[in-house]
Amino acid sequence: MHDVRTTYTLMDGRKVAAEIKSEIAAQVLKRRDAGKKIPHLAIILVGDDGASQTYVDHKVKACKEVGFHYTLMRFADTISEERLLKHIDQVNTDPDVDGFIVQLPLPPHISVEVITEHIRPEKDVDGFTNRNFGSIVSKNPLLLPATPNGIMELLKRYQIHTQSKHCVVVGASRLVGAPLSMMLAEQGRATVTVCHKYTQNLAHHTRQADILVVAVGKPGLITGDMVKEGAIVIDVGTTRVEGPQYKNGYTLKGDVDFASVAPRCAYITPVPGGVGPMTIAALLLNTLRATELSHG
Ligand code: GUN
Repeated sequence: MHDVRTTYTLMDGRKVAAEIKSEIAAQVLKRRDAGKKIPHLAIILVGDDGASQTYVDHKVKACKEVGFHYTLMRFADTISEERLLKHIDQVNTDPDVDGFIVQLPLPPHISVEVITEHIRPEKDVDGFTNRNFGSIVSKNPLLLPATPNGIMELLKRYQIHTQSKHCVVVGASRLVGAPLSMMLAEQGRATVTVCHKYTQNLAHHTRQADILVVAVGKPGLITGDMVKEGAIVIDVGTTRVEGPQYKNGYTLKGDVDFASVAPRCAYITPVPGGVGPMTIAALLLNTLRATELSHG
């Protein structure tokens, strides 16, 4: 008989993010007392997607909590790519803005790649540009991709060592899966398997994972039978699922079926309250770093 684990540690992203935010707030006070520039984050939001609005609200709230300056720039979803690029030029050259993000998704007539590559890498606090993707393997890193860096930080703060572990990353997206698998291999010194939509027999791979990270956007994709006993599971998925039984008419669901997976885990992140708050903490850390790089 296999020993079936029933206790697990919940990796509390809200708590860890709150710790990081209080460290950042202390840095901001120090900067103020030393007469140094207060970090300023600009947020560009196109259209009125409900989920994007919620994420942006959280980012604004986080800026207020740590004492950053912030500017929210809203545009209708009918804005042309050309006009949006002009606004990005403006923020790129505004000496008061240290970092900015363009909230995704964008309307279909606007190319995410064109917009992203237009952001000055020194102000790209999401770490989305190719230059900052390259920061992962660079001897001269600028700003690391925020969500992957938030996940690395969460692992560190729970004293989970990745060196020589087998990490399986499900999802190879340009914004999360691809940079995270590189970070786990480079900074984390892990053995990494990357799974994507062309992977055959997904469960065969996920069962090998000491650390399983899932970033796909398919609620409940990973079930208990796909996870090794004692694994560490990081759920990056946050999909809005609608239903009349939910307050506000929707709930957030992860890619991991928590009920069947959690009892097999040593550690697991909840959704919400796991990776999401860590992304925001990493965004704030990058904004502080961008300010330090340009203003000392
Ligand atoms: N949309 C969903 N997650 C993110 C994020 O981390 N940054 C931006 N800019 N847009 C997002």
